[in-house]
Amino acid sequence: MFSITMTLLTCFFLITISIILCLVYFRRKFQYFTKRNIIGPKPTLFGNTKEAFFKRKHLTYEVGKIYEDYKNKAPFVGFFNFTTPYLLVIDPELTKQIMIKDFKHFRNNEFSTLSNKKKDPVMALNPFVMRDDEWKEKRTEVAVGMTQNKLKSIFPLIEDVARKFAIYIGQEIEKNSRKTFNARDICVRYTCDTVATCIFAIDGGSFTKDDSAIILMGDKMIRSISDAAKSFLPKRLMPQDVEDFFVYLMEEAIKYRTENGIERDDFLSHIISLKKKKNISDIEMASHGVTFFLDGYDTSSVALAPLFLELARNQKAQDKLRAELREAVGDSSQITYEELMDLPYLDQVVYESLRLTPPLTFSNRECSESIEIEGVKGHKALIEKGLRIFIPILSFHHYFHDPDDFIPERFDHGAVKMSKDKGVLLPFGLGMRFALLQLKAATFEIIRNFRVTLDPKMSTEKVLEIDPDELLMNVKKDGIWLNFEVA
Ligand code: HEM
Repeated sequence: MFSITMTLLTCFFLITISIILCLVYFRRKFQYFTKRNIIGPKPTLFGNTKEAFFKRKHLTYEVGKIYEDYKNKAPFVGFFNFTTPYLLVIDPELTKQIMIKDFKHFRNNEFSTLSNKKKDPVMALNPFVMRDDEWKEKRTEVAVGMTQNKLKSIFPLIEDVARKFAIYIGQEIEKNSRKTFNARDICVRYTCDTVATCIFAIDGGSFTKDDSAIILMGDKMIRSISDAAKSFLPKRLMPQDVEDFFVYLMEEAIKYRTENGIERDDFLSHIISLKKKKNISDIEMASHGVTFFLDGYDTSSVALAPLFLELARNQKAQDKLRAELREAVGDSSQITYEELMDLPYLDQVVYESLRLTPPLTFSNRECSESIEIEGVKGHKALIEKGLRIFIPILSFHHYFHDPDDFIPERFDHGAVKMSKDKGVLLPFGLGMRFALLQLKAATFEIIRNFRVTLDPKMSTEKVLEIDPDELLMNVKKDGIWLNFEVA
């Protein structure tokens, strides 16, 4: 009896001590901002993002609420994502300071802690997850592969896939009397095939088969990255079979190009030239291909589906766009790269859709060297090494009047550039040129040939709800159901 009582008392004592230690630990952690005179909401036991912690809401919405509460009160505030302190940028001007002027202090993002070169040799070389000088080197290698000339040279390949996209819809309507499509599904087929042809020089076959290997592998890769990013334990970002598949594709593409002496100013030849100039390894070559594939396939399809949805909801804008596209080609049905990229209303439609539904709804940075920043009205703060910065892309995109409405005309008279300069339109990172080409080529072929309308099973809610389970992307789990008819 005595020993049972002693055991119970010891357990009680140990539990009480552990709770007290935890509370002291949390209290000290949660004093991070008050000690530094940075205002912000009071954290609870789960920080300020409890709903996101329990996957009831997407992190973007929780942080967006803090942004709204402090919008007119401070240029930046501190908040806790569970126990991790973040500085939330409220003043868009500060974004420029962080992303441009003082970028050398903020070049790493928090995803750079996810990769491991030994476990994940291909994914660890993606600039998204790299740090410091290595990041700079790889990022430059990717960026140089996306010059205007290279994009011009791959334009016929993208144009060809965009035509296949339109032919596929036309055939489904004519032969199978089908008019309803899940825009998420058809857009993934399109972006997957554009990247497959531009990077790996293969026909992905996504419009001819339902089980295209490259889509299956791409999907597996995205799931695995998303799971690893959410996991508390270190996990491989890319499963071995997916890595083997893409390394093989890259090796074959390079072999075919070199054995047949094909000369083309594109991303693949850029990778081959890096091998010659810098002697990069086969893994490094494959990793560049995967960087392009990963970002160009998923992010772009997540951007394209809501674009068609907005046009279906806004028939006047769709008519105006169709008129511009048809006028641009006249009787020829051909358009050049320059003509396509210069169509003003198409540009406004694309940016307005990205404003409403940016695939990446926030960006984050990690301070690598302490620095003092200054907001409007001289409000200063010392950002210490290691502090994470949260850039609320979606909240900045609501800076405009009637922010939930699709109004491409808001970008008349060069307002896209002005909004980017102000720091309130930030949909893209490094892949902007390639992504714009992909989005515009598909919109051009589809909208000039088809009228897109809402299917009755599609909700009429104006704003798409971001799935709390998805890490970064704006995805509608139930699909985006649209009807297509020949226009
Ligand atoms: C609609 C399509 C796309 C959207 C909306 C998009 C958006 C973004 C955003 C918001 C960032 C984060 C920027 C930052 O935190 O600094 C980013 C980074 C990046 N994007 Fe994209 N992207 C798209 C397509 C592409 C494509 C086609 C590529 C092809 C290479 C690409 C490559 C990258 C890379 C390598 C980074 C990391 C850049 C860095 O570390 O500085 N993206 N993207």
